Amino acid sequence: MYIFVYISDQIRCVLHRYTTHLRNLRNPAAPLRAHTALLRCMRGQKPKTGILMLNMGGPEKLEDVHGFLLRLFMDTDLMQLPVQNKLGPFIAKRRTPKIQEQYSKIGGGSPIRAWTTLQGQGMVTLLDDMCPDTAPHKFYIGFRYVHPLTEEAIEEMEKDGVERAVAFTQYPQYSCSTTGSSLNAIYRYYNSRAVRPKMRWSVIDRWPTHPLLIECFAQHVLNELERFPPEKRDDVVILFSAHSLPLSVVNRGDPYPQEVGATVQRVMERLGHCNPYRLVWQSKVGPMPWLGPQTDEVIKGLCHRGKKNLLLVPIAFTSDHIETLHELDIEYSKILGEECGVENIRRAESLNGNPLFFKALADLVQTHLKTDETCSRQLTLPCPLCVNPTCAEAKAFFANQKH
Ligand code: FES
Repeated sequence: MYIFVYISDQIRCVLHRYTTHLRNLRNPAAPLRAHTALLRCMRGQKPKTGILMLNMGGPEKLEDVHGFLLRLFMDTDLMQLPVQNKLGPFIAKRRTPKIQEQYSKIGGGSPIRAWTTLQGQGMVTLLDDMCPDTAPHKFYIGFRYVHPLTEEAIEEMEKDGVERAVAFTQYPQYSCSTTGSSLNAIYRYYNSRAVRPKMRWSVIDRWPTHPLLIECFAQHVLNELERFPPEKRDDVVILFSAHSLPLSVVNRGDPYPQEVGATVQRVMERLGHCNPYRLVWQSKVGPMPWLGPQTDEVIKGLCHRGKKNLLLVPIAFTSDHIETLHELDIEYSKILGEECGVENIRRAESLNGNPLFFKALADLVQTHLKTDETCSRQLTLPCPLCVNPTCAEAKAFFANQKH
């Protein structure tokens, strides 16, 4: 079985290289590079550069929901609960049936792994052509709460003999609850085993205003605006919706709200401020105060004030997930929209399989590999009111990687 998988991988690899080679014959500088990459691949050379795509992940099947929630509620980087080792499992168990019901309404599971795989493949294919010096490139998926877990991906990368490892967050805007939690997990992997990485690590920790990311969002907004009746198009209010955070996280100095705002600003500049807009926040849970205004409250408020043509734009996740497919599409667009009497409510497509987005990812990695930077300057500064000692240790781990 393994031999079969290995051989078919090699055949796929050779075919891909050869088609790239033929395609590149139109470009006089490209054939030599493509030929070198082809030979390298045929010799079964191990990946030189491993790109670890970090994200929270989502349950692919209904039976994965409990495990997903359990890991999430036990993540002390994401939330601190009193007696977390008892309360975390209790909340996970109690919430499982409700969340399973939501997943069953969007087809029985999260599409995030499928989209990340497609994006990873698109990215490394481009990278092998763009950066022959750091090829072959291989992508790995490191999810925080479902398989393949971050720790499993690191193990695979070490086993593959990767030389250069790039931890590449798939959240464009940095939060200690998301990217920070994934980076802490990488640090803990080595620290808990008391081993030093064999690979040289570096991090792409944020990219909220990357020009191709902005272009992708702008394209998706324009595509969706086109679908409104022409006479209503000018009246449409664009609601950029991002996952909210508890105010306790915001108030300790988390950079996320500012970085999400930066993305929105650039997208609207690119669109020439064609319509009025707001940045709104979704997915609040529990009784504690969270960053607002909340997306559902804003929909109600706007309808009440006669603004009944609304375009929802998910701005902080790049692939579809439960918060787009269930919360935005079903809870807000269908159920709430009807209750409020909206005229037209639409949702811009997530970046999912947009080839320009693959290019954005490849460009980010190419630029990062060229700069030889271990992480951004911004990553080195902990939240001014951080109370989690792992954050500083993880930041030092990445900042001190030798290149
Ligand atoms: S919570 Fe932000 S650095 Fe620790």
